[in-house]
Amino acid sequence: MNNFTFYSPTCFVFGRDTENQAGSLVRRFGGTKVLIHYGGGSAVRSGLIGRVEASLAAEGIPYLTLGGVQPNPRSGLVYEGIDLCRREGVDFLLAVGGGSVIDSAKAIAAGTVYDGDFWDFYSGKRIEKALPVGTVLTIAAAGSEGSPDSVITREDGMFKRGASGDAIRPRFSILNPALTQTLPPAQTAAGITDIMAHLYERYLTNTKEVEVTDRLIEALLLTMIHEGPRVIADPDNYEARANIMWAGMMAHNNSCGVGRSQDWNSHNIEHELSALYDCAHGAGLAVTMPAVFTYVMDHDVMRFAQAAVRVWGCQMDFAHPEVTAREGIEKFRAFLTSIGMPRNFAELGAKEEDIPALVRALCRGDGRQGSISGFVTLDEEDCAKIYRMMI
Ligand code: NZQ
Ligand code: ZN
Repeated sequence: MNNFTFYSPTCFVFGRDTENQAGSLVRRFGGTKVLIHYGGGSAVRSGLIGRVEASLAAEGIPYLTLGGVQPNPRSGLVYEGIDLCRREGVDFLLAVGGGSVIDSAKAIAAGTVYDGDFWDFYSGKRIEKALPVGTVLTIAAAGSEGSPDSVITREDGMFKRGASGDAIRPRFSILNPALTQTLPPAQTAAGITDIMAHLYERYLTNTKEVEVTDRLIEALLLTMIHEGPRVIADPDNYEARANIMWAGMMAHNNSCGVGRSQDWNSHNIEHELSALYDCAHGAGLAVTMPAVFTYVMDHDVMRFAQAAVRVWGCQMDFAHPEVTAREGIEKFRAFLTSIGMPRNFAELGAKEEDIPALVRALCRGDGRQGSISGFVTLDEEDCAKIYRMMI
């Protein structure tokens, strides 16, 4: 196991009606003027924004609102939010929504107290300082409610890039599973896929002797395999949604990723798809992961065979571990299809003729030097082959 520091200061408030605590939590974490940031309207229609506003009003905390965050959030609204926060003296960001809203709020929080262009953080500069952020989560997926990360798409060039720093870890996150019951089935399934991707990206490691984190990841994957189909069959199943919501947080706050190298090639390859086609991140991952795993499997067959046996219930073929490894990948692919995820470029709305542009954006865009690295290093030819496997 590698040395590590694990810092996860977020206060999680979990359960029914917990959004009514938003005002008291903002007060506890020092907010005196709040920007409520939200998406395209689902949180307004469900009455959630109204309840959050009432909770702030009950504490006597003034607030402004800025809605309109799109899935795969854009830099344009971030600049607008930064201007607004500076002009109005906002000192606390309250994100009400999914990963896109939370990531946009994190970008505004960092950009407001930074003299340069906030995009510097998305080109490699670490975020050291930001306004405090709180969240009210409405979809179990990205894990941004507990993570030090934010992913934003820059409109000129449609690059999708991430930024990190403990300063943008939410001070608190309110997780009410009942809020996710209004999700369309495709979004629920995309969220399940993203959570499983966050687990696999950590599972694919080159670090030896990481039994505790291996076992945590396997437990969370097994939970998703159990709860995913239950929630797809019965969207009002609160208990299944509760288990998925907490698994989503655990999958990405890095408690099961510490002390080990991680992959993230599937995420990087997918980010170009959701940047170009504006598909759901989870849907892009469903098409990306089986292709990436099949392509890199030979790098460590036993790792894939271990997942096949422990997570997917395959019988170990000791003479031919590659057969077991491949069977595990195929079971994962079948699981994703069973919850309604797309299988290929066509079902995702992606086009074969765009592959050169995708590879260029992935391997050359925004300062990259011709490859991406993780579990294995992939150059432009590898990435082109992987995209072609998705057709
Ligand atoms: O905008 P509204 O109207 O709210 O609709 C949203 C949106 O259309 C809808 N939705 C959310 N909660 C709902 C709801 N509809 C009905 N009822 C509810 N309760 O769902 C749609 C998708 O929302 P979005 O926030 O985009 O979903 P998600 O949480 O999957 O976030 C995806 C973004 O997170 C990034 C992705 O790249 C993508 O941009 N990621 C962020 C990470 C991080 N910060 O740590 C890590 C992830 O790997 C990921 O890359
Ligand atoms: Zn993800």
